[in-house]
Amino acid sequence: MNDSGIELRPKQDPLSPEQRRSVMQNLGFGRVFTEHMVTLRYRAESGWDDGVLEPYAPLTLDPASSVLHYGQAIFEGFKAYRQKDGHIASFRPDANARRFNASAKRLSMPELPVERFVLASDVLIRKEQDWVPPELGESLYLRPLMIATEAALGVRPAKEYLFLVFGSPSASYFAQGIKPLSVWLCKEYVRAAEGGTGEAKCAGNYAASLAAQQAAAEQGCQQVIWLDAKERRYVEEMGGMNLFFVYDDGGKTRLVTPKLTGSLLAGITRDSILKLAPELGYTAEEKLISIEDWQRDLENGSLREVFACGTAAVITPIGTVKYEGGSLAIGGAEQSSVAMALRERLLSIQHGVTPDKHGWMHRVL
Ligand code: PLP
Ligand code: COI
Repeated sequence: MNDSGIELRPKQDPLSPEQRRSVMQNLGFGRVFTEHMVTLRYRAESGWDDGVLEPYAPLTLDPASSVLHYGQAIFEGFKAYRQKDGHIASFRPDANARRFNASAKRLSMPELPVERFVLASDVLIRKEQDWVPPELGESLYLRPLMIATEAALGVRPAKEYLFLVFGSPSASYFAQGIKPLSVWLCKEYVRAAEGGTGEAKCAGNYAASLAAQQAAAEQGCQQVIWLDAKERRYVEEMGGMNLFFVYDDGGKTRLVTPKLTGSLLAGITRDSILKLAPELGYTAEEKLISIEDWQRDLENGSLREVFACGTAAVITPIGTVKYEGGSLAIGGAEQSSVAMALRERLLSIQHGVTPDKHGWMHRVL
Protein backbone atom coordinates (compact mmCIF):
# COMPACT_ATOMS: atom_id res chain seq x y z
CA MET A 1 0.00 0.00 0.00
CA ASN A 2 1.07 3.61 -0.41
CA ASP A 3 -0.65 6.82 0.64
CA SER A 4 -2.92 6.71 -2.38
CA GLY A 5 -4.53 3.50 -1.14
CA ILE A 6 -3.43 1.77 -4.33
CA GLU A 7 -1.69 -1.51 -3.57
CA LEU A 8 1.79 -1.74 -5.12
CA ARG A 9 2.62 -5.14 -6.63
CA PRO A 10 5.50 -4.26 -8.97
CA LYS A 11 7.29 -6.53 -11.38
CA GLN A 12 10.08 -8.60 -9.82
CA ASP A 13 12.35 -8.51 -12.86
CA PRO A 14 12.10 -5.05 -14.48
CA LEU A 15 14.14 -4.24 -17.58
CA SER A 16 17.67 -2.96 -17.03
CA PRO A 17 18.37 0.69 -18.02
CA GLU A 18 20.19 -0.59 -21.14
CA GLN A 19 17.24 -2.78 -22.14
CA ARG A 20 14.82 0.11 -21.58
CA ARG A 21 16.94 2.49 -23.66
CA SER A 22 17.01 -0.03 -26.47
CA VAL A 23 13.20 -0.46 -26.38
CA MET A 24 12.80 3.34 -26.41
CA GLN A 25 14.69 3.93 -29.67
CA ASN A 26 12.53 5.14 -32.60
CA LEU A 27 9.44 5.64 -30.45
CA GLY A 28 6.75 6.77 -32.90
CA PHE A 29 3.31 6.63 -31.30
CA GLY A 30 1.66 3.87 -29.29
CA ARG A 31 4.02 1.03 -30.11
CA VAL A 32 6.04 0.73 -26.90
CA PHE A 33 4.38 0.06 -23.55
CA THR A 34 5.84 0.41 -20.09
CA GLU A 35 6.10 -2.38 -17.52
CA HIS A 36 3.19 -1.65 -15.21
CA MET A 37 -0.47 -0.71 -15.21
CA VAL A 38 -2.92 0.41 -12.54
CA THR A 39 -6.26 -1.38 -12.35
CA LEU A 40 -9.39 -0.66 -10.34
CA ARG A 41 -12.44 -2.92 -10.28
CA TYR A 42 -16.05 -1.85 -9.83
CA ARG A 43 -19.00 -3.88 -8.56
CA ALA A 44 -22.49 -2.43 -8.38
CA GLU A 45 -22.90 -3.58 -4.72
CA SER A 46 -19.59 -2.21 -3.41
CA GLY A 47 -18.42 0.50 -5.84
CA TRP A 48 -14.76 0.97 -6.85
CA ASP A 49 -12.04 -0.97 -5.02
CA ASP A 50 -8.74 0.67 -3.97
CA GLY A 51 -6.83 -0.48 -7.03
CA VAL A 52 -3.51 -2.19 -7.70
CA LEU A 53 -0.33 -1.26 -9.52
CA GLU A 54 0.73 -4.48 -11.21
CA PRO A 55 2.91 -5.70 -14.08
CA TYR A 56 1.64 -4.80 -17.56
CA ALA A 57 0.15 -8.05 -18.84
CA PRO A 58 -2.68 -9.47 -20.99
CA LEU A 59 -6.12 -9.45 -19.39
CA THR A 60 -8.29 -12.49 -18.72
CA LEU A 61 -11.92 -11.92 -19.71
CA ASP A 62 -14.92 -14.19 -19.52
CA PRO A 63 -16.19 -14.82 -23.09
CA ALA A 64 -19.59 -13.54 -21.91
CA SER A 65 -18.14 -10.20 -20.68
CA SER A 66 -20.54 -7.57 -21.89
CA VAL A 67 -17.82 -5.39 -23.43
CA LEU A 68 -17.19 -8.14 -26.00
CA HIS A 69 -20.82 -8.12 -27.10
CA TYR A 70 -22.43 -4.77 -26.43
CA GLY A 71 -19.38 -2.53 -26.44
CA GLN A 72 -19.40 -0.67 -23.14
CA ALA A 73 -15.83 0.58 -23.58
CA ILE A 74 -14.47 4.12 -23.14
CA PHE A 75 -10.97 5.54 -23.09
CA GLU A 76 -8.93 8.69 -22.67
CA GLY A 77 -5.52 9.96 -23.72
CA PHE A 78 -3.25 12.48 -22.02
CA LYS A 79 0.46 13.00 -21.61
CA ALA A 80 3.15 13.37 -18.96
CA TYR A 81 6.11 15.53 -19.93
CA ARG A 82 9.62 15.86 -18.65
CA GLN A 83 10.00 19.43 -17.42
CA LYS A 84 12.90 21.75 -18.14
CA ASP A 85 13.82 21.59 -14.43
CA GLY A 86 13.86 17.77 -14.44
CA HIS A 87 10.45 17.23 -12.78
CA ILE A 88 7.58 15.38 -14.44
CA ALA A 89 4.13 16.91 -14.95
CA SER A 90 1.01 15.82 -16.79
CA PHE A 91 -1.17 18.12 -18.89
CA ARG A 92 -4.74 18.75 -17.67
CA PRO A 93 -5.42 15.21 -16.38
CA ASP A 94 -8.45 16.53 -14.48
CA ALA A 95 -10.01 17.64 -17.78
CA ASN A 96 -9.54 14.13 -19.15
CA ALA A 97 -11.04 12.69 -15.97
CA ARG A 98 -14.13 14.86 -16.38
CA ARG A 99 -14.50 13.93 -20.04
CA PHE A 100 -14.04 10.25 -19.07
CA ASN A 101 -16.96 10.59 -16.69
CA ALA A 102 -19.08 12.29 -19.35
CA SER A 103 -18.34 9.35 -21.67
CA ALA A 104 -19.14 6.91 -18.83
CA LYS A 105 -22.48 8.57 -18.28
CA ARG A 106 -23.40 8.38 -21.97
CA LEU A 107 -22.63 4.63 -22.01
CA SER A 108 -24.39 3.95 -18.68
CA MET A 109 -21.11 3.10 -17.00
CA PRO A 110 -20.10 4.12 -13.46
CA GLU A 111 -18.19 7.36 -12.98
CA LEU A 112 -14.76 7.30 -11.35
CA PRO A 113 -14.12 10.27 -9.05
CA VAL A 114 -11.76 12.75 -10.74
CA GLU A 115 -9.24 12.46 -7.86
CA ARG A 116 -9.09 8.64 -8.22
CA PHE A 117 -8.53 8.92 -11.98
CA VAL A 118 -5.70 11.41 -11.46
CA LEU A 119 -4.19 9.46 -8.52
CA ALA A 120 -4.19 6.17 -10.43
CA SER A 121 -2.34 7.92 -13.28
CA ASP A 122 0.10 9.63 -10.89
CA VAL A 123 0.97 6.32 -9.20
CA LEU A 124 1.69 4.80 -12.61
CA ILE A 125 3.74 7.79 -13.82
CA ARG A 126 5.82 7.80 -10.62
CA LYS A 127 6.56 4.11 -11.01
CA GLU A 128 7.40 4.56 -14.72
CA GLN A 129 9.34 7.82 -14.38
CA ASP A 130 12.32 6.44 -16.29
CA TRP A 131 10.02 5.81 -19.25
CA VAL A 132 9.23 9.51 -19.70
CA PRO A 133 11.37 10.47 -22.72
CA PRO A 134 13.39 13.70 -22.48
CA GLU A 135 13.06 15.53 -25.80
CA LEU A 136 10.71 18.42 -26.65
CA GLY A 137 7.58 16.90 -28.20
CA GLU A 138 8.19 13.51 -26.58
CA SER A 139 6.10 12.32 -23.66
CA LEU A 140 4.68 9.39 -21.76
CA TYR A 141 1.22 8.98 -23.30
CA LEU A 142 -1.29 7.70 -20.73
CA ARG A 143 -4.19 5.57 -21.89
CA PRO A 144 -6.92 5.19 -19.23
CA LEU A 145 -9.84 2.98 -20.21
CA MET A 146 -12.93 1.32 -18.77
CA ILE A 147 -14.68 -1.85 -19.94
CA ALA A 148 -17.71 -3.82 -18.78
CA THR A 149 -16.53 -7.16 -17.41
CA GLU A 150 -19.73 -8.72 -16.09
CA ALA A 151 -20.48 -12.11 -17.69
CA ALA A 152 -24.11 -11.65 -18.72
CA LEU A 153 -25.82 -11.65 -22.10
CA GLY A 154 -28.87 -9.53 -21.29
CA VAL A 155 -28.73 -6.15 -23.01
CA ARG A 156 -28.50 -3.78 -20.02
CA PRO A 157 -25.75 -1.82 -18.24
CA ALA A 158 -23.25 -4.27 -16.75
CA LYS A 159 -22.76 -4.53 -13.00
CA GLU A 160 -18.98 -5.03 -13.08
CA TYR A 161 -16.27 -2.92 -14.70
CA LEU A 162 -12.51 -2.69 -15.00
CA PHE A 163 -10.70 0.67 -15.05
CA LEU A 164 -7.13 0.46 -16.24
CA VAL A 165 -4.39 2.96 -17.04
CA PHE A 166 -1.20 2.11 -18.87
CA GLY A 167 1.59 4.17 -20.43
CA SER A 168 3.32 4.40 -23.77
CA PRO A 169 6.41 6.54 -24.31
CA SER A 170 5.70 8.42 -27.52
CA ALA A 171 7.07 10.84 -30.07
CA SER A 172 5.29 11.95 -33.25
CA TYR A 173 1.83 10.48 -34.01
CA PHE A 174 2.37 10.68 -37.76
CA ALA A 175 5.22 8.74 -39.32
CA GLN A 176 6.15 11.79 -41.42
CA GLY A 177 6.45 14.03 -38.31
CA ILE A 178 4.73 17.42 -38.69
CA LYS A 179 4.73 17.51 -42.50
CA PRO A 180 1.34 18.82 -43.76
CA LEU A 181 -1.35 16.15 -43.91
CA SER A 182 -3.52 15.15 -46.85
CA VAL A 183 -7.09 14.62 -45.72
CA TRP A 184 -10.14 12.99 -47.31
CA LEU A 185 -13.52 14.72 -47.09
CA CYS A 186 -15.83 11.82 -46.36
CA LYS A 187 -19.37 11.96 -47.75
CA GLU A 188 -20.10 8.24 -47.83
CA TYR A 189 -20.03 7.50 -44.11
CA VAL A 190 -20.85 9.57 -41.04
CA ARG A 191 -19.02 9.41 -37.73
CA ALA A 192 -21.77 10.65 -35.46
CA ALA A 193 -25.29 11.98 -35.54
CA GLU A 194 -27.27 14.24 -33.21
CA GLY A 195 -28.26 12.26 -30.13
CA GLY A 196 -25.60 9.61 -30.80
CA THR A 197 -22.26 9.01 -29.09
CA GLY A 198 -20.05 11.42 -31.07
CA GLU A 199 -19.31 13.49 -27.98
CA ALA A 200 -18.23 10.43 -25.98
CA LYS A 201 -14.79 8.88 -26.28
CA CYS A 202 -16.12 5.37 -26.73
CA ALA A 203 -14.47 2.53 -28.61
CA GLY A 204 -17.38 2.05 -31.02
CA ASN A 205 -16.88 5.50 -32.57
CA TYR A 206 -13.41 4.48 -33.65
CA ALA A 207 -14.47 1.06 -34.99
CA ALA A 208 -17.13 2.77 -37.09
CA SER A 209 -14.57 5.19 -38.52
CA LEU A 210 -12.19 2.59 -39.92
CA ALA A 211 -13.93 1.93 -43.25
CA ALA A 212 -13.69 5.66 -44.04
CA GLN A 213 -10.09 5.69 -42.86
CA GLN A 214 -9.37 2.88 -45.33
CA ALA A 215 -11.14 4.81 -48.11
CA ALA A 216 -8.96 7.82 -47.25
CA ALA A 217 -5.81 5.72 -47.43
CA GLU A 218 -6.87 4.47 -50.89
CA GLN A 219 -7.01 8.14 -51.95
CA GLY A 220 -3.50 8.67 -50.62
CA CYS A 221 -4.77 10.56 -47.55
CA GLN A 222 -3.70 10.08 -43.92
CA GLN A 223 -6.94 11.19 -42.25
CA VAL A 224 -10.68 11.57 -42.75
CA ILE A 225 -12.59 14.83 -42.34
CA TRP A 226 -16.04 14.07 -40.97
CA LEU A 227 -19.07 16.10 -42.00
CA ASP A 228 -22.35 16.48 -40.13
CA ALA A 229 -24.73 13.54 -40.49
CA LYS A 230 -27.79 15.49 -41.62
CA GLU A 231 -26.66 17.80 -44.41
CA ARG A 232 -23.15 16.42 -45.03
CA ARG A 233 -22.00 20.02 -45.33
CA TYR A 234 -20.63 21.15 -42.00
CA VAL A 235 -17.10 20.19 -41.05
CA GLU A 236 -16.92 18.42 -37.68
CA GLU A 237 -13.54 16.86 -36.89
CA MET A 238 -11.08 14.14 -37.87
CA GLY A 239 -10.65 10.56 -36.62
CA GLY A 240 -8.71 11.56 -33.53
CA MET A 241 -8.28 15.30 -33.82
CA ASN A 242 -10.20 18.58 -33.88
CA LEU A 243 -9.78 21.19 -36.58
CA PHE A 244 -8.89 24.87 -36.72
CA PHE A 245 -9.19 27.29 -39.67
CA VAL A 246 -6.88 30.30 -39.71
CA TYR A 247 -8.14 33.48 -41.39
CA ASP A 248 -6.32 36.65 -42.26
CA ASP A 249 -8.71 39.58 -41.74
CA GLY A 250 -6.64 42.37 -43.25
CA GLY A 251 -3.56 41.65 -41.15
CA LYS A 252 -5.38 40.32 -38.06
CA THR A 253 -5.32 36.58 -37.42
CA ARG A 254 -8.62 34.90 -36.56
CA LEU A 255 -8.94 31.25 -35.58
CA VAL A 256 -12.19 29.41 -36.18
CA THR A 257 -12.99 25.93 -34.93
CA PRO A 258 -16.18 23.93 -35.54
CA LYS A 259 -18.71 24.58 -32.81
CA LEU A 260 -19.49 21.73 -30.40
CA THR A 261 -22.85 20.50 -31.64
CA GLY A 262 -22.95 17.28 -29.60
CA SER A 263 -21.62 15.07 -32.36
CA LEU A 264 -17.94 15.91 -32.06
CA LEU A 265 -15.46 15.41 -29.28
CA ALA A 266 -14.72 18.40 -27.05
CA GLY A 267 -10.95 18.19 -27.41
CA ILE A 268 -8.76 19.38 -24.56
CA THR A 269 -6.13 20.59 -27.03
CA ARG A 270 -8.92 22.48 -28.87
CA ASP A 271 -9.96 24.12 -25.60
CA SER A 272 -6.34 24.98 -24.76
CA ILE A 273 -5.79 26.59 -28.18
CA LEU A 274 -8.95 28.69 -27.75
CA LYS A 275 -7.47 29.93 -24.45
CA LEU A 276 -3.94 30.46 -25.80
CA ALA A 277 -4.98 32.32 -28.97
CA PRO A 278 -5.37 35.80 -27.39
CA GLU A 279 -1.91 35.49 -25.80
CA LEU A 280 -0.44 35.21 -29.29
CA GLY A 281 -2.53 38.13 -30.57
CA TYR A 282 -5.16 36.02 -32.35
CA THR A 283 -8.91 36.13 -31.96
CA ALA A 284 -10.71 32.80 -31.77
CA GLU A 285 -14.28 31.71 -32.26
CA GLU A 286 -16.39 28.56 -32.43
CA LYS A 287 -18.93 28.34 -35.25
CA LEU A 288 -20.37 26.12 -37.97
CA ILE A 289 -18.06 25.87 -40.99
CA SER A 290 -19.40 24.44 -44.24
CA ILE A 291 -17.37 22.92 -47.04
CA GLU A 292 -18.62 25.78 -49.24
CA ASP A 293 -17.14 28.31 -46.76
CA TRP A 294 -13.90 26.36 -46.83
CA GLN A 295 -13.66 26.35 -50.64
CA ARG A 296 -14.75 30.00 -51.03
CA ASP A 297 -12.36 31.33 -48.39
CA LEU A 298 -9.46 29.41 -49.87
CA GLU A 299 -10.25 30.85 -53.27
CA ASN A 300 -10.60 34.44 -52.01
CA GLY A 301 -7.36 34.08 -50.07
CA SER A 302 -8.72 34.86 -46.58
CA LEU A 303 -8.29 31.27 -45.33
CA ARG A 304 -4.56 30.86 -44.85
CA GLU A 305 -4.13 27.66 -42.85
CA VAL A 306 -6.04 24.67 -41.61
CA PHE A 307 -4.61 22.50 -38.86
CA ALA A 308 -5.49 19.47 -36.79
CA CYS A 309 -5.05 19.31 -33.03
CA GLY A 310 -5.23 16.61 -30.40
CA THR A 311 -3.24 15.03 -27.60
CA ALA A 312 -1.56 12.49 -29.84
CA ALA A 313 -1.17 14.76 -32.88
CA VAL A 314 -0.40 17.98 -30.91
CA ILE A 315 -0.81 20.50 -33.77
CA THR A 316 -0.27 19.34 -37.34
CA PRO A 317 -0.90 21.45 -40.48
CA ILE A 318 -3.16 20.23 -43.26
CA GLY A 319 -1.72 20.72 -46.75
CA THR A 320 -4.31 19.18 -49.06
CA VAL A 321 -7.97 18.29 -48.84
CA LYS A 322 -9.27 15.73 -51.35
CA TYR A 323 -12.87 14.93 -52.17
CA GLU A 324 -14.79 12.96 -54.78
CA GLY A 325 -13.87 14.71 -58.02
CA GLY A 326 -11.22 17.17 -56.86
CA SER A 327 -8.74 18.51 -54.37
CA LEU A 328 -7.71 21.80 -52.82
CA ALA A 329 -4.22 22.81 -51.77
CA ILE A 330 -4.07 24.76 -48.53
CA GLY A 331 -0.43 25.55 -48.05
CA GLY A 332 2.86 23.96 -47.15
CA ALA A 333 4.60 23.86 -43.78
CA GLU A 334 6.28 27.19 -44.54
CA GLN A 335 2.83 28.82 -44.82
CA SER A 336 1.63 27.28 -41.55
CA SER A 337 3.17 29.89 -39.31
CA VAL A 338 0.15 30.27 -37.01
CA ALA A 339 -0.14 26.50 -36.49
CA MET A 340 3.57 26.28 -35.79
CA ALA A 341 3.53 29.25 -33.37
CA LEU A 342 0.67 27.66 -31.41
CA ARG A 343 2.43 24.30 -31.43
CA GLU A 344 5.61 25.84 -30.10
CA ARG A 345 3.75 27.73 -27.33
CA LEU A 346 1.78 24.67 -26.26
CA LEU A 347 4.81 22.37 -26.16
CA SER A 348 6.78 25.02 -24.34
CA ILE A 349 4.12 25.19 -21.58
CA GLN A 350 3.89 21.40 -21.49
CA HIS A 351 7.64 21.05 -20.95
CA GLY A 352 7.76 23.78 -18.30
CA VAL A 353 9.76 26.21 -20.47
CA THR A 354 7.04 28.90 -20.67
CA PRO A 355 5.17 29.72 -17.42
CA ASP A 356 1.86 27.93 -17.05
CA LYS A 357 -0.55 30.83 -16.50
CA HIS A 358 -3.61 28.63 -16.82
CA GLY A 359 -2.80 26.08 -14.11
CA TRP A 360 -2.77 23.27 -16.68
CA MET A 361 0.33 21.40 -15.56
CA HIS A 362 -0.11 18.82 -12.81
CA ARG A 363 3.20 18.13 -11.08
CA VAL A 364 3.62 14.40 -10.52
CA LEU A 365 7.23 14.13 -9.42
N1 PLP B 1 -11.55 14.13 -31.70
C1 PLP B 1 -11.43 12.80 -31.53
C2 PLP B 1 -12.41 11.90 -32.19
C3 PLP B 1 -10.40 12.28 -30.73
O1 PLP B 1 -10.26 10.96 -30.55
C4 PLP B 1 -9.49 13.17 -30.12
C5 PLP B 1 -8.41 12.67 -29.26
O2 PLP B 1 -8.51 12.52 -28.11
C6 PLP B 1 -9.67 14.55 -30.32
C7 PLP B 1 -10.70 14.99 -31.13
C8 PLP B 1 -8.77 15.55 -29.66
O3 PLP B 1 -9.00 15.60 -28.28
P1 PLP B 1 -7.87 15.95 -27.23
O4 PLP B 1 -7.32 17.25 -27.65
O5 PLP B 1 -8.57 15.99 -25.94
O6 PLP B 1 -6.85 14.87 -27.32
C1 COI C 1 -5.55 11.12 -28.44
O1 COI C 1 -5.09 12.09 -29.04
O2 COI C 1 -5.30 10.90 -27.24
C2 COI C 1 -6.43 10.18 -29.10
O3 COI C 1 -7.13 9.51 -28.43
C3 COI C 1 -6.42 10.15 -30.57
C4 COI C 1 -6.24 8.83 -31.21
C5 COI C 1 -4.92 8.20 -31.00
C6 COI C 1 -7.39 7.91 -30.98
